[in-house]
Amino acid sequence: MTRVPVSQRSLRFTESVIREMTRLCLAHGGVNLAQGFPDFPAPAALKAAAARAIEADVNQYAITWGARRLREALVAKTRAFTGLDYDPDTDVTVCCGSTECMAATLLALVDPGDEVIVFEPFYENYGPDAILCGATPRFVRLREPDWAFDPDELDRAFSNRTRAIIINTPNNPTGKVFSAGELGQVARLCRKWDVVAVTDEIYEHIVYDGARHIPLASLEGMRERTVTISGLSKSYSLTGWRVGWCLAPQPLTAAIRKVHDFLTVGAPAPLQEAAAEAVSFPREYYDGLADDYRERRDFLVPALESAGFRAFAPRGAYYVMTDISGFGFDDDVTFARHLVADGGVAAVPGSSFYSDPAAGRQRLRFHFARRRETLEAAVDRLHRLRRRAPAS
Ligand SMILES: Cc1ncc(COP(=O)(O)O)c(C=O)c1O
Repeated sequence: MTRVPVSQRSLRFTESVIREMTRLCLAHGGVNLAQGFPDFPAPAALKAAAARAIEADVNQYAITWGARRLREALVAKTRAFTGLDYDPDTDVTVCCGSTECMAATLLALVDPGDEVIVFEPFYENYGPDAILCGATPRFVRLREPDWAFDPDELDRAFSNRTRAIIINTPNNPTGKVFSAGELGQVARLCRKWDVVAVTDEIYEHIVYDGARHIPLASLEGMRERTVTISGLSKSYSLTGWRVGWCLAPQPLTAAIRKVHDFLTVGAPAPLQEAAAEAVSFPREYYDGLADDYRERRDFLVPALESAGFRAFAPRGAYYVMTDISGFGFDDDVTFARHLVADGGVAAVPGSSFYSDPAAGRQRLRFHFARRRETLEAAVDRLHRLRRRAPAS
């Protein structure tokens, strides 16, 4: 065979850098602050609910777009937390994680040749998702220290070719929580150019310092043009269950459901039963979740600073973006490999979050979805490495 028989499409993006860091971390016996998943237990009530569902033989295909009980619970939660009304029969699609929600949504709503606006630094799936649809991602930069965007740059990104914009708030990797004013600008442009907004709100319950998560769909004129995505992974520490959902008005949902059906048929049936219990948790659960993450953040951020990083403290989600220029390395990938091989701590090179890798050359992302003792072990290692390094 003279040519490897793979699609041109698959050649337009690379393997996930985050998973590469996880592999390196395993090889070096390191502490993994790269791939964002918790190392503490999931809520006991949810594990028991899943076990009960399996015992009760909820083990066959669920309804393709989601178990009725879960869709009803999602609609009730959304009404209670945001005041927005959705119909469980026509506006909800349960997928295999919010990852599938995003892919199914873009495949359902975007045509080859369209443009999709993506803020960068970005969560690494958005670019490949757009490319899988044959669309062109168009990037708008969020700039340190508060990760604001230039309103004129956003204005210039919209055109007749724009089909969708992806917003992720609270944001991975920056920890930014988009303000009402910023979301208002996005909404105004979506209305002006008749563009659909796809909002990844998977960190909706993880906000700090009085920051408020504002669902984009709650802005004037946005409910009818917004697909809101969330899931079990982050709010309930269940990344391995692969249950997520999209809420969108009926005409958009109808297309998303068709794509979802042919991608995966449905999300795991017994876990959807447990998910219905998760989304019915009282408000105090989410307050406790955010408090626990705030404590971890308040431990890690100053510790990173004393280890030589400049840390951009997050206002939401569970990541810290850092500036590594104090270490005197030319690039982030070399530094990240050094950190895991010689220091025993894995983090993600900043370049993987930018369309132009040069923009992230002096950036590194850590996550803190870890038990306190895991974070302490990581910090000990970082301080030891700092002591060994020649003064710069
Ligand atoms: C912004 C963002 N969206 C989606 C995901 C993945 O979510 P899920 O596990 O529901 O597919 C992640 C995971 O890190 C994330 O950071």
